[in-house]
Amino acid sequence: MPKKTAASLTANRSALSHRVAYALRNPGRIAPYVRRSVRDTWLSAKYPNHVDYYRAVMASDTGRNPEAAVGSQSHERWLALGAMQFDYLAEHGLAPGHRMLDIGCGNLRAGWRFIQYLDAGNYYGIDISPDILISAKATLTTYGLQDRLPHLTLTHDLTFDFLPDGHFDVIHAHSVFSHSPIKVIDECLAHVGRVLAPGGFFDFTFDRTDGVEHAVLREDFYYRTETLTALASRHGLVARFMDDWEERPHGQSKIRASARP
Ligand SMILES: C[S@@+](CC[C@H](N)C(=O)[O-])C[C@H]1O[C@@H](n2cnc3c(N)ncnc32)[C@H](O)[C@@H]1O
Repeated sequence: MPKKTAASLTANRSALSHRVAYALRNPGRIAPYVRRSVRDTWLSAKYPNHVDYYRAVMASDTGRNPEAAVGSQSHERWLALGAMQFDYLAEHGLAPGHRMLDIGCGNLRAGWRFIQYLDAGNYYGIDISPDILISAKATLTTYGLQDRLPHLTLTHDLTFDFLPDGHFDVIHAHSVFSHSPIKVIDECLAHVGRVLAPGGFFDFTFDRTDGVEHAVLREDFYYRTETLTALASRHGLVARFMDDWEERPHGQSKIRASARP
């Protein structure tokens, strides 16, 4: 994945001029984009609710290739993206005794590493997609992690109403808000504080724009940092931009939120 540049951080990918210029530079991407647009129109009409819509997107993508469905075009990239997430958290506070909630865990691209590292039973992965959770179970089998007894749960919203107060030391959402309208992020930030343990933190990535906030189809959402830090603040959280994540070869940025002291 390319590193961020000044041009990529100010581009408005939903603008017609951007799309035409991109198509001229990348003619090979026109046909896949048209296919995605047709699917987007069809699924948007069928599923007004965003979670229902995105669950259908995941069903379609996972049916073709589960690793590509979570954003990795090759197995090497799938391994590298998982390692990048794991290494960062291990260097930034994750300890084996911690209890971790992985929101939008996908097919455990990073999750299998967290599961291997954490004490048995301390990993909790949730996702809206039954298809990707079936693939997650296959990943557990591949890595022989059955005795780590992770929890994998299908969810429909981000209220965490089925989880206990003050339980998780580390909450993590990688490449989830990049696929979420602001209403879904708001719901998450409104409720995540309740399930955070004292001293715990919530790390999430997002597709950052320093220009106009925009969405590509209903799949990819670009936010300004201050929109998300202000939203976290409205829900009693202190949020800070993780500068050193920017050094990683990853297209998204990262914010850490914790309870306001
Ligand atoms: C790009 S994948 C990333 C998966 C995983 N975090 C990783 O990095 O490998 C995004 C995942 O988030 C899930 N997802 C999207 N919106 C969600 C939501 N509102 N609540 C929970 N999971 C969600 C998708 O089903 C998908 O598995």
